[in-house]
Order: sequence, then C-alpha cells, then structure tokens
Amino acid sequence: MNRADFGVIGLAVMGQNLVLNVEGRGFTVAVYNRTAERTQRFIKEHGIGKKIVPAYSLEEFVGTLSRPRKILLMVKAGAPTDAVLDQLFPLLNKGDIVMDGGNSHYEETERRLTSAEERGLCYLGVGVSGGESGALHGPSIMAGGKAEGYKEVEGILTKIAAQGPQGPCCAYFGPGSSGHYVKVIHNGIEYAIMEAIAEAYDLMKRGLGMTPDEMADVFEAWNAGELGGYLFEITERILRHPDSETGKALVESILDTAKQKGTGKWSTQSALDLGTPSPTVAMAVFARALSGLKEERVAAEKILPGPPGPVEQFPASHKAFVQDLHGAVTLTVLTAYAQGLRQLRDASVERGYNLDLAEAARVWMAGCIIRAKLLVPIEKAFREQPDLPLLLLAEPFLSLWKEHHPALRKVLIQAHEHGIPVPVMSSALDFVDGYRTGRLPANLLQAQRDFFGAHTYQRIDREGTFHTEWEEA
Ligand code: 6PG
Repeated sequence: MNRADFGVIGLAVMGQNLVLNVEGRGFTVAVYNRTAERTQRFIKEHGIGKKIVPAYSLEEFVGTLSRPRKILLMVKAGAPTDAVLDQLFPLLNKGDIVMDGGNSHYEETERRLTSAEERGLCYLGVGVSGGESGALHGPSIMAGGKAEGYKEVEGILTKIAAQGPQGPCCAYFGPGSSGHYVKVIHNGIEYAIMEAIAEAYDLMKRGLGMTPDEMADVFEAWNAGELGGYLFEITERILRHPDSETGKALVESILDTAKQKGTGKWSTQSALDLGTPSPTVAMAVFARALSGLKEERVAAEKILPGPPGPVEQFPASHKAFVQDLHGAVTLTVLTAYAQGLRQLRDASVERGYNLDLAEAARVWMAGCIIRAKLLVPIEKAFREQPDLPLLLLAEPFLSLWKEHHPALRKVLIQAHEHGIPVPVMSSALDFVDGYRTGRLPANLLQAQRDFFGAHTYQRIDREGTFHTEWEEA
C-alpha cells in the first residue's frame, strides 16, 4: 500500500479545503473525521480519483501515514482539540509531528506541546489564516514549536501556502506557542482594521448620507491605492451586494451586532498582561461588545441625548471629508499594525519567542485576512531596523503620519460633534499623541497613588524613591 505523506484530522470546510490544497500539490493525504458520514460524503463529493485515503478510526488513520507521521489537526479549538489529542498521542511514535492548525489559545498550545514532548512527539502550533478560500488556494501559515519538527513539514507547508510578493507566506517563528501567538496578533489587527472600516462606513452613511453604492465607490478607490487590501476589497463587494428579497444593499438588512470567537479578546488580554499599549485592538473588541447590547442601545437612543436633532449631514463638502477620511483610516490602520507589531516585540521578550517582526509582516502579505499593500513597506522597515520601537517612527510611515494627522483630527472633531462613535480611530490618535508626548500627566497619577496609598514616586530632578505626607502639607 502506498502510504500517505500527510494526514488531516477534522473535515469541516477549512479541513476539507486544506486536504484538497495539499493533495493538489502532489501529496497523498490521509483523512479522518470523528463522524464517518462526513468522511464518506467528502470522499464522494471531492475525493474520487484523488490521492486521498479515508480512514474510519484513528488507528487506521495512523496506520496509513508514512513515518515520521505529519498530522494536521483542523478541529475546533478548546476541548474538542484535547479530546482528539488524548486519543491520538498514544497511537503515535517518537518523532511524529502533530500540527494544530486551529485558532488555539497560545497557553493551551504550550500545555499540549509539553505533553507531546514528554512522549517524544513534535508538536507545532500553526496559525492558519485566510478563511475557506485561503485554505483551498493558499493560506498564510504561522508556525511555532520545535525547529526539527518544522523542518520535516516545511516542504509541504511552504507548497500549500499563498505566494506573496516575497515568497511563500509560511514561516517558522520560534519555539513554543509563537506561531499561535503571531496568529492571535494577526486577528487583533484584523479586528481593528474591520472596525476602522466600519467607522468610516458609519461616517459616510450617517454623516454624509451616502448610499451603499457611493460608499462602495469610495472603498474601491481606496483599495486601488496604498491602503489596498483584502478587507477593503470585500467591503466594496459587500456594499454592492443586493438583497434578493428587498433589492436594496443586503448589508442594510443585517443586524448590527457583531459576534466574536475570542482571538481579538486574547490579543487584548495578552496586551494587558504584558503592559503593552495596544488600545486600538482593545477598542475594536469593546466595540463588538457594545454592538451586542442591541436592546439597551435601542432603549438608550430615546433617553440619552446627543447633539441637537437627528444627525445632520456634515457641513464640509463630501469630497473634502472623504479625502480626510482616507487619511484618518490610513493612520488608524497603520496604528493597528504598529501596536500589533509592538506587542509581538514585547511578547517575544517576555515569552522567549525570538520573533522576527519582518517575517511576520512578510507572511501577512498574502493569503491572510489582513493582507494589504502596506505590509510591503512594513516588512522593509523591520528588515532594515529589527528593533524599531514603533512602526510610525520609520519611513514611509513617518511621512504618512505628517501628511495625514491633520485629517485624522478633523474627522474626529466632526464625528464627535455629530455624536457618531469612532472608538478605534480615536484610540489611534490618542495613542500616537501619547507616544509623541515627552511629558504626560502621569506625574499627577504618581502623586495620587502616593497620596492615598503611600506607593511612592520618582522625581525628575533627583534619583531615588520618595514619599510625601500629603495630608500634613
Ligand atoms: C483568519 C480569520 C479566522 C476567523 C476568525 C474570526 O485569519 O482566517 O481570522 O481565524 O475568521 O476566527 O474571528 P471572530 O469570529 O472572532 O471574528
């Protein structure tokens, strides 16, 4: 019997598409799913005449794979992943490689990695981005774990990955859960860009009274320029998509509450743990949380007043405002990348990942959800200056900041004046304004902490730690 080169466990759509992708590159793929019906259906619909070997038990699956076995798990993150691993690990031999391709929490990856290594197995946490289409045509792949394990699968992963302007969008990031951590930051940035786009849409819709088609034209133009990227591209397509029932843009019939599976939240939780300022992603996470309070919002609309009357159209001309909005969104997107990469830098030190930030930007250039033209100069900036503290300090981003920050300020003034919430855009400006302020008011915070808790403070004119009996003064 010809043994399979690669095995995939879990045949939901992402798993199925990855199987087809791997097989399409000339490899024989063994497949297993918890429910046999799904395996049978997959083989019937997509497997005929292909080098796909179905297995109906994990024992059979393991038996069909050549050694060292290369197994990719595409099952739900959390308990389902542990359930599969509990059954799978005892069936494997030393040196076999198990890759978790799900959106697993990086701490869970660390735990599983330790338990795999105790058995002599290689465990890789592999972030896979690009949704269903990416899985089939080429995702962005962010791998972490033992380097020897990665070496064994590098050939296959590189072949199935998206081809970017600077090679296959697949990289090994370092030990432990580094791959899954990079994927979490990818998703955090994804949340922030999505929310920035949603805020721009809201400003154009409620502020300028633009129609979905007019807004689609704007996103189309932005996508054609330096801001271009997948999320802008799909936004244009969404805005042009009609509802078959009403004939109007479908997006206007969609409920305004956004769900989340948790990766944006993990990104923010980690930022809080690290003490890294990543407020823009946090605001995007909270914006989704606020969107979930639909009933409360509808009730509060009638109670809490905003600017007088219904939101009126902005006084500025549409064209000038849309131009400013372009600048505002550009800086917000850049700030999201800047904060995400800064967080990766801090996490790398804290967690011993030894991350190459340029490599993160490189694998995000194609295949993944945040793929965008801006990643090309971002990669270059970190390649040239690996210890760059903040993206905006390097060219061409410094020039973009200089060019567009007046526009971002104008847009925010308009938004606040008309009561249209722009949490992500505001947080981006506040963050950069804070970062470029040599003396922040934290001196007062130090004094307050010392006043009520004797937490002590430092002085600007002398070394040492001081305490004042404030009440006596
Ligand atoms: C990707 C996506 C993918 C998925 C997220 C969405 O990179 O392909 O990020 O991982 O769409 O799980 O997350 P939310 O459900 O939290 O928006």
